[in-house]
Amino acid sequence: MDIGEFNSHASVRFNHLFYDGVDTVELASHYGTPLYVVSESAVRERCSSVRKAFLEKYPNTRAVYASKAFQTLDMCRIIDQEGLGIDVVSGGELFAALKAQVNPGAIVFHGNAKTLDELEYAIENDVGRIISDNLREISEVERIAARLGKKVKLLYRITPGVDSHTHRFISTGSLDSKFGIPLDSSVRNDYMRAVLNSPHIDFRGFHFHIGSQIRDNFSHLAALGVALKLIVDVHTDYGFDVSELNLGGGFGIRYLPGDPETELGYFLDPMMQLIRFEMEKAKIPMPMVTIEPGRWIIGEAGITLYELRSVKTIPGIRTYVGVDGGMTDNIRPALYEARYHAISANKADWSHDTVVTIAGKCCESGDILVKDVGLAEPKPGDIVAVFSTGAYNHSMASNYNRIPRPAVVMTTGEGRHRLSVRRESYEDMLIREF
Ligand SMILES: Cc1ncc(COP(=O)(O)O)c(C=O)c1O
Repeated sequence: MDIGEFNSHASVRFNHLFYDGVDTVELASHYGTPLYVVSESAVRERCSSVRKAFLEKYPNTRAVYASKAFQTLDMCRIIDQEGLGIDVVSGGELFAALKAQVNPGAIVFHGNAKTLDELEYAIENDVGRIISDNLREISEVERIAARLGKKVKLLYRITPGVDSHTHRFISTGSLDSKFGIPLDSSVRNDYMRAVLNSPHIDFRGFHFHIGSQIRDNFSHLAALGVALKLIVDVHTDYGFDVSELNLGGGFGIRYLPGDPETELGYFLDPMMQLIRFEMEKAKIPMPMVTIEPGRWIIGEAGITLYELRSVKTIPGIRTYVGVDGGMTDNIRPALYEARYHAISANKADWSHDTVVTIAGKCCESGDILVKDVGLAEPKPGDIVAVFSTGAYNHSMASNYNRIPRPAVVMTTGEGRHRLSVRRESYEDMLIREF
């Protein structure tokens, strides 16, 4: 397969994989491996698609990037320049977004167990929205906001009770979930009374996020149906018109060459039609609609480069190739059996007909990065490129086995690249210890 058909920023020149016009073999030798390479141009293209398919197409809409997918200062600045807001889920993510000088009003603060310190930090800094899913938090937000003389714009995250078709570890919308408020009417009354009776809370509406890497639009539409019914119910029961509805993220991307490309409009157009239809039917004004894509913006923009360190053939069983990274830079295969595509970056023109399993270097048998993929006559010293590693790789990286986290290099098209995050050193890993 032509690699450019799988990833439009990849090409083959002089038998090497080029990414955004940069020779990845040279990148590996210049910056070392493992190395995250993120195409800034790909990120900007995705942001432009969000604008065209959603923000410019539908009035009164917002898009915030779910920064848990990949959060660096650089990334926050790019997203901010592109006119999207930022979704954060911890004091640490909020701190980084503020350091990157993101407008606090464009920040959405999530979390099912925010600490008091985090709430105080968010309210002090005037974050744009707090998304809440527990009653205790409502009284805490009210108390902090009253003390600081603020009024907090807040949405409730609901549990729509929809099973999304994705791995159960990244499914979040079913009834049995740690996220969101169940919509049982007795529960609902307590929650609605709490916000409507809090003078320092400006209650705006509802949020749902049903899971990640979802390939079809059925679950999103089913969840939306539940949220719209709730909007009509609170209009009838409390005379309250919801002014905002946040549809979350979860839009799937391509990990394997056979995966179809999914346009955002495939999810968003029928959802926007349904919202308009139901609101007109119930004679309720259209709420502002927000989306929170994470993976869709950054996932396909990233690749990871490794040096191949060992080749081990178990006769009649399989060939393992060991690389100089693993579950410390990409936990997703071990965590939820995520699948990836890889090629030999230094033999990109050769036939990739040696089927191997790419194993990481950590002391876990489950540390397998890619199962059964064709490489080109694998030998130690080769550079292996794994695709679609932009989302939830760098942000979930760890120091297991005291392995330093890789550097991040950003490519900007036409052969330009820059160091965005330096490689961790052994000293960095000991910095907190006495
Ligand atoms: C509340 C919320 N919004 C948005 C996202 C982004 O999801 P995705 O990266 O699948 O778009 C997540 C991911 O976990 C989330 O929890």
